[in-house]
Amino acid sequence: MSTLTEAKRREELDIVALRPSDWAVLKMVRLRSLRDSPKAFVAAHRFECRLDRANWRARLEDGSTWVIARAGLDRQIVGIAHLGAEPVEDHVGMDPSSAVRYVESVWVHPRARRQGVLRRMIEELELRARAEPGVRKLLLWVFDDNHVAWDAYLRLGFEPMGQDESNYAPAPDAGNRGVWERRMSKGLPGL
Ligand SMILES: CC(C)(COP(=O)(O)OP(=O)(O)OC[C@H]1O[C@@H](n2cnc3c(N)ncnc32)[C@H](O)[C@@H]1OP(=O)(O)O)[C@@H](O)C(=O)NCCC(=O)NCCS
Repeated sequence: MSTLTEAKRREELDIVALRPSDWAVLKMVRLRSLRDSPKAFVAAHRFECRLDRANWRARLEDGSTWVIARAGLDRQIVGIAHLGAEPVEDHVGMDPSSAVRYVESVWVHPRARRQGVLRRMIEELELRARAEPGVRKLLLWVFDDNHVAWDAYLRLGFEPMGQDESNYAPAPDAGNRGVWERRMSKGLPGL
């Protein structure tokens, strides 16, 4: 019974990569994620809501990958994730051929959580990263107090890196408090 449900869920979930012409979709979902989960991200809604069309489009033209998850008969968007060469705030000037990729900007709609949406998005990003020559590792940053995300990443095979792989980061929507960010990694077998 539970296997059938799981299979049905997977069938009903599409993971789709956004194209430059989808910049308005990226804007809508990304801003929704920043509004919904301000404490999960270094970036803040009040800054990103001022970005113009060219900025959003540029995010889809830099060689990185943004995926969204669509679910149900009405194809509602229920999640978003990004695979980049470096965290999204630092992209400019980074070498796109470096041998690691960062998973970031991860968000699942509150009503769609704990139904495998993140798992499916990570599977898709892993496939894409593995297909890139020389990429053998995924990295991500997670705030120390984001226990839900930490536990989810552990379940998905990410491992904590050492204490020196931590970073004291500003959290813009948390009253200027700083928060420890911890880095996690996952090795990728070759295809
Ligand atoms: C973290 C987040 C992306 C998880 O998404 P999700 O779609 O609910 O995760 P999934 O259903 O794919 O679960 C993946 C694994 O994590 C586990 N997991 C998910 N939520 C969990 C929770 N609250 N507590 C413990 N484990 C959890 C699941 O059990 C699953 O493991 P399993 O398949 O072995 O059982 C979602 O809670 C979210 O969007 N949070 C707010 C934004 C955020 O924190 N983003 C991350 C920034 S680093």
